[in-house]
Amino acid sequence: MTSPEVRPDKLVVVGQGYVGLPLAMRAVEAGFSVVGFDTDDERIKRLNADDSYVEDVTSDVVAAANASGRYEATSEPKRCAGFDYAVIDVPTPLDDGVPNLSYVTTAAEMLSRYLRPGATVIVESTTYPGTTEELVGPILENGSGLSIGDDFHLGYSPERIDPGNPNWRFESIPKVVSGVDDASLASVKGFFDRLVEQTVAVSGTREAELTKLLENTFRHVNIALVNELAMFAGELGIDIWEAIGAASSKPFGYMPFTPGPGVGGHCLPIDPSYLSWKVRRTLGRSFRFVELANDVNEHMPDYVVGRLVLALNRMGRPVNGCRVLLLGMAYKKNTGDAREAPGTIIARRLAALGAHVHVADPHLKDDPESIVTLVDATEEEVGLADAVVVVTDHDAFDYDMINAGAQYILDTRNRLRGPHVERL
Ligand SMILES: NC(=O)c1ccc[n+]([C@@H]2O[C@H](COP(=O)([O-])OP(=O)(O)OC[C@H]3O[C@@H](n4cnc5c(N)ncnc54)[C@H](O)[C@@H]3O)[C@@H](O)[C@H]2O)c1
Repeated sequence: MTSPEVRPDKLVVVGQGYVGLPLAMRAVEAGFSVVGFDTDDERIKRLNADDSYVEDVTSDVVAAANASGRYEATSEPKRCAGFDYAVIDVPTPLDDGVPNLSYVTTAAEMLSRYLRPGATVIVESTTYPGTTEELVGPILENGSGLSIGDDFHLGYSPERIDPGNPNWRFESIPKVVSGVDDASLASVKGFFDRLVEQTVAVSGTREAELTKLLENTFRHVNIALVNELAMFAGELGIDIWEAIGAASSKPFGYMPFTPGPGVGGHCLPIDPSYLSWKVRRTLGRSFRFVELANDVNEHMPDYVVGRLVLALNRMGRPVNGCRVLLLGMAYKKNTGDAREAPGTIIARRLAALGAHVHVADPHLKDDPESIVTLVDATEEEVGLADAVVVVTDHDAFDYDMINAGAQYILDTRNRLRGPHVERL
C-alpha cells in the first residue's frame, strides 16, 4: 500500500518586492507551496513570464519556481485561500514624516478574509513597536471572526536582507522571530527554522519590531557621525578616510562607517523616523539622535553640490551651462535601487543651477527623475564632462579610464586618487 501524499504547507507572501520575492523563492526551494500575492499587475505579469525585477533574484530562479508547480504569482486575492502561513511584506513609507501603514492595513484586511483556524500570520514589513499587536491583530480578528491564541497565530520577524551583498545569503542571515504568545512564537520560529540556518527568538513582537529599528537607527546615526566629521575634516585639511582606516585597526570597541553623499533607499531615511514618531506620539519626547542624524544626512547632497560649485569656481567655470557626469545614481553600490537616493537630489539641484547633468549607472534601467540624460560611462562621456562626481562607486565602472580621462573628479566614496581628484 502506498502512503498518501503529504500536502506541502501553503504559504502566502503578500508583496513580491525586494523583501517578499526572495522569501517566496526560498520557501519554494524549501518545499512550501507558495502564492506570491501582489497588487501590481505589471509585476505579476513579469513573474509569470519568468522575468525577475529584483536584482538579487535571477530570472532563472523565478523560472525554476514556476516550473516546480509550487509557485503562483497572482493579484487575485482568492488564490490566497487556505493558507497555513502568510507573511506581510508590503511598503511602510513615511508621508510628511508620519508612518503610512495603509499598505499593511490593506494586506491584513485581505488576509483576514481567508484566515482559518491553525494558520499563522507574520508581519515582516518594517514598522514601529506595537504595530503587530495593536493594528494587525485586531484587523485579523475582526475580519475573520477568529481569536488570536485560540484560533490562529500572529508574530513579527524583521527582514535583514542586504541587496547587492553577495556574502550573506537569505538562509545564512540569522532571523529574529517573535509571537504575540508562546504558541505564536513557536509557530513563527518553526516556520523560519525551515528557511534559515539560525533563528533568534525574542519574548514579544514589540522587541522584534524595535530590533529592526535599532539596527537601522544605529547605522543612520553612525553614518551621520562620519558625515559631519568629513565636513569638518575637509575644512581642517585632515584626511578623514585615513583616520577611519587607522581607527579600524582597533580590534575591539570600534566599527567603521564611511562618509558619503547622503543616505537613501527604503530603510535608513525612513525607519529611524518610525521610531522617533512612536517616541513622540507615545511619550511626547523627541528622539534627538534620530533628528540630528536626519539633519546631517539630509544636508549631504547639498554639501556635495556646494563642493562641486566651489571647485568649478576655482576653475573659472560657472555651474550654469557646464556638463557634469554623475557616476552612480542608485543609493547603494552594485544595485539599481534609486529610491530616496541622494544622487537624485544632487542631480536635481545641479539641473536647477543650469548644469547639463549626465548620469551613468549600469544598474539603472531608466531615470527615476526624468531630469538627467542617462549615458554609459565611456571615455568620450568622461572626457567631455567639465566635472565627474563619483556618487555611487559601483564595481562595474572602469576607474582607471575615468581617472585618466576626467578633467576634474569629486569622489564622495574614496575610490580615486590623483592631482585632479578631490575626495569628500
Ligand atoms: N528593501 C530592503 O532592503 C528592505 C530590507 C528590510 C526590510 N524592508 C521592509 O520590507 C517592507 C517591504 O519593502 P520592499 O523593499 O520589499 O518594498 P517593495 O516596494 O520592493 O515591494 C513591496 C511590494 O508590495 C506590493 N504591495 C503594496 N500593497 C500591497 C497589498 N496591499 N497587497 C499586496 N501587495 C502589495 C507592491 O506592489 C510591491 O511590489 C518595507 O516595510 C521595508 O521597509 C526592506
